[in-house]
Amino acid sequence: MPTLLAESAELKDAYTTEGWCRSPFRFGPDAVDLLRRRIDLLCQEDRPEVVHERDGGAVRGIHGCHAYDELCAALVRHPLLLGLAETLVGGPVYVYQFKVNLKQAREGAAWPWHQDFAFWSEEDRMPTDRAVNLAVPLDEVHADNGPLVVLPGTHRLGLFDLPERDGEPDGRADWRSHVSADLAYTVRTDRAEELERRMGRRTILGPAGSVHAFHPSIVHASSNNRSPDRRALLLITYNAVDNAPAQPTRPAFLVGRDTEPVTPVDDPRLGVESG
Ligand code: SIN
Ligand code: MN
Repeated sequence: MPTLLAESAELKDAYTTEGWCRSPFRFGPDAVDLLRRRIDLLCQEDRPEVVHERDGGAVRGIHGCHAYDELCAALVRHPLLLGLAETLVGGPVYVYQFKVNLKQAREGAAWPWHQDFAFWSEEDRMPTDRAVNLAVPLDEVHADNGPLVVLPGTHRLGLFDLPERDGEPDGRADWRSHVSADLAYTVRTDRAEELERRMGRRTILGPAGSVHAFHPSIVHASSNNRSPDRRALLLITYNAVDNAPAQPTRPAFLVGRDTEPVTPVDDPRLGVESG
């Protein structure tokens, strides 16, 4: 199995400076196939964790599966994913969120410019942005199936365009507006364009099974999927155990309540290879 040790310092540097990095390992084809088939099955279930596109269309995303599916539970304990998250966060971590954004062929809708930490600080009162998103495409991500675009370095600039608030979170928005195409916390388009001119942009492409990390405060977006190819992106957010929100109120499938450090477990079904 590849190790992370040799690359840890480099990855951490890239993540600290740019706000994103790609890992030196990827899940092998058998593991990807297994995960893909499992997610397809879970998407057929009628439960609140399964979110549809506007007007009850295709499945847009599925949330919190690590809490009710044993393969997803094994995935979050994968030694290399966990090692990467601990390296980037700088200490023990727990699973804050688990989701798969499906971006169905021709139907998958965009994610406007936003910063994840805006949701987590405003809605859950996560104290700091000491967390990390690990993204694993379950389909090849190419330029036309709605890849994630990040604005490198913007994670160092704070949060933009937060709505005024007076006091406690007031359930301003139903949690569905945190997972739908009409997001509750967005970065204004003119601001994103200005940031893009200043900081540049990176499109996160890669084969199924590749592993990418991005920072909770990085400005990012993705476009509609007008291609004939689905773009399922599995996302695990690991949060530092000493950075857990004190009293989250959103559903447990959006804000993990088990804040004990995750311990690694090797599962032979989830094999990895280099690159
Ligand atoms: C996407 O699935 O393209 C968006 C992911 C995210 O905003 O975290
Ligand atoms: Mn996001």
